[in-house]
Amino acid sequence: MMLDTLRTVLAVPGVSGSEQIIAETLAELVRPYVDDIRTDALGNLICVKKGAADGKRVMVCAHMDQIGYVVTDIDKDGFLYVHNVGGFGPQAFLGKVVTFANGTQGVVYAKSVKDGAKLGMGDVYIDIGASSKQEAEEKISIGDTANVAFQMVVHGDRVSAPTMDDRAACAVVIELLKALQPPHHTVIAVFSAQEEVGTRGAQTAAAAENPDIGIAVDVTATGDTPGAEPRMAVKLGAGPAVKIMDRHSISTPSVRDGLIAAAKAAGVPYQREVLTFGGTDAGAIQRTLGGIPAGTLSIPCRYVHTPVETVSLRDMEQSATLLAEYLKA
Ligand code: CO
Ligand code: ZN
Repeated sequence: MMLDTLRTVLAVPGVSGSEQIIAETLAELVRPYVDDIRTDALGNLICVKKGAADGKRVMVCAHMDQIGYVVTDIDKDGFLYVHNVGGFGPQAFLGKVVTFANGTQGVVYAKSVKDGAKLGMGDVYIDIGASSKQEAEEKISIGDTANVAFQMVVHGDRVSAPTMDDRAACAVVIELLKALQPPHHTVIAVFSAQEEVGTRGAQTAAAAENPDIGIAVDVTATGDTPGAEPRMAVKLGAGPAVKIMDRHSISTPSVRDGLIAAAKAAGVPYQREVLTFGGTDAGAIQRTLGGIPAGTLSIPCRYVHTPVETVSLRDMEQSATLLAEYLKA
């Protein structure tokens, strides 16, 4: 079930700012399980499942956008020069196939740099098989975006693919909405836009919805691979991670402790997470309006922001179980 949902949401494109197709896909998947679905000017998909009259209004936020490339220039030979949308370096997707929203495919490569010189994003280009600028422009315009093509490897419980950040969390939220019958707290499930360029969607969605509590569901890095830097305690397959802090937010203690209590009540293992870089939509939610209590439930993920982001299906299922317990109590 989780794997099928994951496969469905991973295969759909949605670079930051171009989330229409993934938003439509997510709306179709959750429609039978929610009371209301709406979108807003930033492209957020907001799905409400009503709870009891004395329940709280809890925003559960998983971002639906993904990192990718935006075309900045096209040269006379038809090569596309690009910049990154979201945070990743020039090496991240070299040698990979990418897909544009109109279906055009290309391959990513880079100019060779002299010994000792550093590869920059300005050296990276996409070859779409065009032999001239004119031929390239028949398919692609400046500002078009591309994401790394979908490809998934399932090794039993562990699954590798691009865009686990944050479609793994989208899948968790879908399975959560299916499982809640009915919740005590009203669930405002937000599939947010433009997280990867600075948590922009979550900021407006939180302001519009003004929830009592905000919970971001996102991936986090792990410290369990050879030479992993920086040092951190989170491991793949050891259960969902309750975020203590990252660069963008310090989880509100009541939300953090509520998630830990829900893990214990549900009988699922959990990990405590301190991430020394990065951030999630919780940071935006927490600082919206006069301040909203917010925290993050993290899905451990190896190789974040690469073509082989790797998660554990059991960690994902336990994340949904933990959240269901949190929303039930
Ligand atoms: Co990310
Ligand atoms: Zn993310």
